[in-house]
Amino acid sequence: MQSSERASSNEQDDVDLKQLYADFEAQNLMPLWTQTNDLMPFHPRPMAVPHVWKWSTLYPLAQRSGDLVPVGRGGERRAIGLANPGLGGRAYISPTLWAAIQYLGPKETAPEHRHAQNAFRFVVEGEGVWTVVNGDPVRMSRGDFLLTPGWHFHGHHNETDHPMAWIDGLDIPFSYQNDVGFFEFGSERVTDYATPAFSRSERLWCHPGLRPLSGLQDTVSSPIGAYRWEFTDRALTEQLLLEEEGQPATVEQGHAAIRYVNPTTGSDVMATIRAEFHRIREGVQTPGRREVGSSVFQVFDGRGAVQLGDTLHKLEKGDIFVVPSWIRWSLQAETQFDLFRFSDAPIMERLNFARTQVDGDVL
Ligand SMILES: [Fe+2]
Repeated sequence: MQSSERASSNEQDDVDLKQLYADFEAQNLMPLWTQTNDLMPFHPRPMAVPHVWKWSTLYPLAQRSGDLVPVGRGGERRAIGLANPGLGGRAYISPTLWAAIQYLGPKETAPEHRHAQNAFRFVVEGEGVWTVVNGDPVRMSRGDFLLTPGWHFHGHHNETDHPMAWIDGLDIPFSYQNDVGFFEFGSERVTDYATPAFSRSERLWCHPGLRPLSGLQDTVSSPIGAYRWEFTDRALTEQLLLEEEGQPATVEQGHAAIRYVNPTTGSDVMATIRAEFHRIREGVQTPGRREVGSSVFQVFDGRGAVQLGDTLHKLEKGDIFVVPSWIRWSLQAETQFDLFRFSDAPIMERLNFARTQVDGDVL
């Protein structure tokens, strides 16, 4: 073939290819070969970015919304979602998880409703609110972790003359992306204004190692309404004491940790959300690790820092940060450092996408 013929045949190919792509577009088709890198990267390349929200900023903003925005039917909750700057303006802290600060003023009631999405509360400070879950009033106090599994009616009421704030965690983004959400209004008020120290669920289930014979059927979500701080604190304290005695107890040197579990199965509290509590000894730095799936941490007590990718962030009580998929993170404890953590690990594990890499590991 002469070179001029080759050139004209190439030109003809270009024209034909352009036409092919135009015809693809007209038929709502997209070729894989122009986007392989985006669709199948060599490792996760999250659009979500690592980010820190300071409690000293969050709380006053929640307080201002308490002055200006009523809580009631329609809006349902005075909850302010933490929006990951990489996720295009939606109030998603990660592609699967929602985190919000919720604020309830003196004597206020947040009406009852239920939804398919799984939810929990974690209390970093304050007390005086009861959340009523399927008619069972559950006290909320500092350090408590409370469950509202999917399709359980729930409302909150503040019995005191002072406001209270806490964080909510839900699987809203996962539910939204997969169109699995249902929602139903319940009572305009909560159905039970009693203020017991312990919920009926705790009275039945919270006796270490003891399972009621009336509850031998396993349940998808934990039947426990609240995991109390005194038990979490004691478990972590004992792990560090055992470590000092030379006994195997901690997850790594100077790092005590527990997972909140469903007592009927021994696995995660809800199908989509894992929750843990970590205590790092003063002066300890955890090895860098990265994991498939996203995590959110809230500092409960103490001072320290987190290395997120290339950036070191100083942290103090109440600060919240997100670790997107496959971003390397490491904690540094300036004082004894207590952190609550939740993640989408149950989804990743069940679907067999879970991977973890700790510094020094070879994948
Ligand atoms: Fe809700």
